[in-house]
Amino acid sequence: MENKEANAYKKITTHVLQEMKLKGQKIAMLTGYDFSMATLLDIAGIDVILVGDSASNVMAGYSTTLPITLDQMIYHASSVMRAVKRALVVVDLPFGTYQGNSKEALNSSIRIMKESGANAIKMEGGREILESVDRILTAGIPVMGHLGLTPQSIHKFGTYIVRATEESEAQKLIEDAHILEEAGCFSIVLEKIPAKVAGQVTSEIKIPTIGIGAGSDCDGQVLVLHDMLGITQKFSPRFLRRYHNLSEEIQGSVKAYIHDVKTQNFPNEREQY
Ligand code: KIV
Repeated sequence: MENKEANAYKKITTHVLQEMKLKGQKIAMLTGYDFSMATLLDIAGIDVILVGDSASNVMAGYSTTLPITLDQMIYHASSVMRAVKRALVVVDLPFGTYQGNSKEALNSSIRIMKESGANAIKMEGGREILESVDRILTAGIPVMGHLGLTPQSIHKFGTYIVRATEESEAQKLIEDAHILEEAGCFSIVLEKIPAKVAGQVTSEIKIPTIGIGAGSDCDGQVLVLHDMLGITQKFSPRFLRRYHNLSEEIQGSVKAYIHDVKTQNFPNEREQY
């Protein structure tokens, strides 16, 4: 079923997101990693699909986002791009393909854009990735920033708790948001930080903020698709709203199928040639 309210814009671009912020229209973003799901997200009217490196967790089963490779991200992004007609598609630069080396950052971004046809890339970090952001932007590739809890730095943080609760970290985050805006990023993801800090960033910068566990003042929200559909069960942070319990539904369907096969109830006469 099409979502008429979301379809006011025929095609979402980075400029549309900017316009949405100006008009006070909230931006809805979800992660997507494959053709079938991306088709459904796009038809439903999602504004932005993030081909997140969370694919490392929910698609590949790793405990962190670190192992996923550039080739694997390009595979997921290409699958999503074959599905999408309307949404803006943003792809995460995976760990180790941009940190500390702006030439490599540019090459990784060019590979993503060329080989998948995606619309933009996303990178984690503030001041420390500025040189890479600058270089990528000079090539005409739109960049989304990501501040707060940045999962690629999990071994530095040691934990997935809320970030920027201390004044000094909050101040650095606010500064980083301004740095990314001035550099030319078109949007910034704010992950797992106090709503008050996210609200301040959102009001101080002109580009849209997209929150995950960052409160309602952000210009948009993002969730990991498998979490909000209830496919993943163990991950239950406070910010996660589950819209479905697909885990139970899928298991119920698979059990019913197994039962039908074992009892020779499937296929029946109408289901054969
Ligand atoms: O990889 C991802 O899914 C993300 C979102 C959580 C923002 O970066």
